[in-house]
Amino acid sequence: MIEKCLFPVAGYGTRFLPATKSMPKEMLPVVNKPLVQYGVEEALDAGMNTCCFVTGRGKRSIADHFDISYELEHQISGSGKESYLKSIRDVLDRGVFTMVRQREMRGLGHAILTGEPLVGNQPFGVVLSDDLCLNTGGDGVLAQMAKLYAQFRCSIVAIQEVPPEEAHKYGVIAGESLRDGLYRVEDMVEKPPAGEAPSNQAIIGRYILTPDIFEILRDTPPGKNGEIQLTDALLTQAKQGCVMAYRFQGKRFDCGSVPGFVEATNHVYENLYEE
Ligand code: UTP
Repeated sequence: MIEKCLFPVAGYGTRFLPATKSMPKEMLPVVNKPLVQYGVEEALDAGMNTCCFVTGRGKRSIADHFDISYELEHQISGSGKESYLKSIRDVLDRGVFTMVRQREMRGLGHAILTGEPLVGNQPFGVVLSDDLCLNTGGDGVLAQMAKLYAQFRCSIVAIQEVPPEEAHKYGVIAGESLRDGLYRVEDMVEKPPAGEAPSNQAIIGRYILTPDIFEILRDTPPGKNGEIQLTDALLTQAKQGCVMAYRFQGKRFDCGSVPGFVEATNHVYENLYEE
């Protein structure tokens, strides 16, 4: 039912310098697969077969990754190494990939607004690919959220419980509990100062958004850090209508930070990697 997924990949990835000086953080490999490919596979598995990237300067390798490399295909054709290309060939067969550039990094909300021409007037998924989400043996997080969308027809944010001392790194929600792990959002604060978080339910990098979010983003002034914050627009949407928050099944690794990235690498190598 939801055909498109937006990937804002224009950020600088400063927490991963110097690795990200001339290479996008989304191309950092967790074992042998770039972070962004995990996100794209999750979107495809949720039935979202058009992947729309909001890129920026220095991100051309992402576009190249989701295209054929004729030299490579020619070089390894008929050799014992063809199997190494299987996962990306499968992705290319299943998806359509579109790109737009965000010229100035004015925040996640601005990145999403920049993606409007690619998405159009329909509900869409959003993946922040530095959050790696895995649910071995079950539906991926976006697929879980797409099922909820079919029921509620409103924007949905994925949430995770975090310890109070971590809350300042996230957008944090408060809301009415509808059932275990599902809330109707009543409040939302981006990166609350210590002790001021409205709950311990933090938003992670998976969303389903209804297209009225674009109009709201256009009217959203810069917020925290002078950036146009998606959290501010979602709070407006929650007040005008409805936004749900969903505690997903599965594991999430914060691969935008070095400890989270190392944890993800160890987990994938020990549990999922096949030679
Ligand atoms: P982050 O703030 O986590 O990513 O933005 P970053 O800026 O790349 O990382 P650090 O903090 O400097 O290490 C969340 C997501 O939003 C995208 C980023 O690419 C990331 O996926 N983003 C952020 C944009 O696409 N454009 C922006 O203007 C800001």
